[in-house]
Amino acid sequence: MPDFFSTAIAHPNIAFIKYWGNRNNELNLPASGSLSMNLGALTTRTMVRFAPSLAADSLILNDAPAQPLALERVSRFLDRVRELAGTPYHAVVTSTNNFPTGAGIASSASAFAALSLAATTAIGLQPDEASLSRLARYGSGSACRSVPTGFVEWLPGDTDADSFARTIAPPGHWDLVDCIAILHSKHKPVGSTAGHRLADTSPFQPARLQGAPTRLAVCRQAILDRDFNTFAKIVERDSNLMHAVMMTSIPPLFYWEPASLELMKTIPAWRAEGLQVCYTLDAGPNVHVLCLSKDVPEVKKRLEPFPQVQRVLVSPPGGAVQLVTD
Ligand code: DP6
Repeated sequence: MPDFFSTAIAHPNIAFIKYWGNRNNELNLPASGSLSMNLGALTTRTMVRFAPSLAADSLILNDAPAQPLALERVSRFLDRVRELAGTPYHAVVTSTNNFPTGAGIASSASAFAALSLAATTAIGLQPDEASLSRLARYGSGSACRSVPTGFVEWLPGDTDADSFARTIAPPGHWDLVDCIAILHSKHKPVGSTAGHRLADTSPFQPARLQGAPTRLAVCRQAILDRDFNTFAKIVERDSNLMHAVMMTSIPPLFYWEPASLELMKTIPAWRAEGLQVCYTLDAGPNVHVLCLSKDVPEVKKRLEPFPQVQRVLVSPPGGAVQLVTD
């Protein structure tokens, strides 16, 4: 019997309006909608090969066998794909990132988006974009946003069936750039899967969720209007609100480093001077510094002298998950 294989690439995404906390942890049904941009310069490439001869799934991550927990997560995801296809075969999954691992850039979004497309194609399924986004969501919530192209909104939905992401604008709509200030960091953060489960222990989470639809609408409109100043204010506010919830959950989660906070104070001051720039942070200390492409040299020039900034990765908006044939 022949092997069935396929390769896909996907980009991670940076959330402008954050996903933090679930209504249903098993299905990754989020507590609120979120909004993001795919990061075109950063890529995960994943090959999946199903074969009748394999006794178990295996996972090679960046040229080395993956940790047992990572394999278990991927294997559970493949169970869903096998169930959809009605096939018992196990698979070999080989995945590589073109961005530095251990630099604190979450790769679960691009990993599960690429895995969703590669695995479904290899096994002979042809899901439409919404179904693929829903499937990726089971692997990692934010992965559903790495399926469609460009600027993307995750509709929280009422049920499993209507919780998926869709494009609000293509990558070329706005020349927004993410300059990721990678900080030297000694601490290993608590992963987002564990973090989502703590969100409801913060008394601030209900307040954050109450305002989320309005912030999302304001941010969506600012993107559509290419209105940087409105965008900057709502993005920073939404990031601060998420971190207020993280810091006040039980146990508290402090993802910032002193250098992150230093940048969070400095970047609005640059904006007050006239530079169009703002920040957002995910579940880690790195600072995502958003600006327009014409200002990238200036932003890099200002970020690089910070002693804690190890390097600055620059990415424009990116496309959808896609198959590669070579
Ligand atoms: C802080 O999607 O990484 O980056 O579903 O457990 O994999 P899992 O969580 P994940 O959570 C992302 C959290 C965030 C904010 C965001 O991207 O919206």
